[in-house]
Amino acid sequence: MISIIGAGKVGSASAFNILRFRISDVVLIDVAGKLAKGEALDMMQAAPAIEFDGKVRGTHDFSEMDGSEVVVVTAGAARKAGMTRLDLAAVNSDIVKTVVKEVVRYAPECNLIIVTNPVDIMTYIAYKESGFERNRVFGIGNTLDTLRFRSYIASELNVSREDIRALVIGEHGDSMVPLVEYATVSGIPIKDLLEKEQIEKIVNLTKTSGADVIKLKGATTYAPAVVIAIIVDAVLRGRNRVMSVSTFLQGEYGFSNISIGVPVILGKNGVERILELKLSAKANTQFKKSALIIEDMINNLHART
Ligand code: 2OP
Repeated sequence: MISIIGAGKVGSASAFNILRFRISDVVLIDVAGKLAKGEALDMMQAAPAIEFDGKVRGTHDFSEMDGSEVVVVTAGAARKAGMTRLDLAAVNSDIVKTVVKEVVRYAPECNLIIVTNPVDIMTYIAYKESGFERNRVFGIGNTLDTLRFRSYIASELNVSREDIRALVIGEHGDSMVPLVEYATVSGIPIKDLLEKEQIEKIVNLTKTSGADVIKLKGATTYAPAVVIAIIVDAVLRGRNRVMSVSTFLQGEYGFSNISIGVPVILGKNGVERILELKLSAKANTQFKKSALIIEDMINNLHART
């Protein structure tokens, strides 16, 4: 059984994906009165058409996550006009801390997946607050960036998205690092198939992709919701999938005491192993810059509180 905390658009859409992909039963929890109940009822009414047998329960009661193998935290405020990323971090870190206390109480054995933004900072906060081993607390950021990177490569080449393999590492934010040298089409490096300008365009599109959607409709929903389902599937079924998630570093990639997106093997125990890649000089510099941005935000957040 898994629990999702936060029945907003992302939380609800990911619950529905988890049901329709037949991954697990879901408990959807939201402090906002009847919202989670209503979402769950709506989903169950769709069940006969989509023919899933799983169950979703909506509630405002945290104790109903009791015994969950995986808990996904989507609760938090969205960034409003005039708000800096640090303002958002301050608001959401209080929410994440409160939620994590409940998780520790009712689902002490779970893998804890953080979605709330800024996700690298919130993953760090959740890790510290939970006292869990670091492999059990990770954030979705770069998996989402990678999805978008793959989708833009496929469009540029007019080939099936299924055949694109790629990785994005670093902050889930402006300083993310799409790893061009590791992007392939069925094993063929994209550098052999695309011009330099085309690659630059794809990299830039990837970096602004989340913000591009937010400018148009105020928030992103479908991409994060599908990524959550993929990650939950990898963990619950112990699939040992290779993807970038935000994870707490202890010396890997030359950094400690920050959570940042790096490639990992994701399985039953969450982050089974961090994969340390040989980065090009350019990617290495960009990753360092990204890590320092996160480090700075963590320090500034500590200074505020
Ligand atoms: C996204 O990239 C806003 O972090 C969210 O979709």
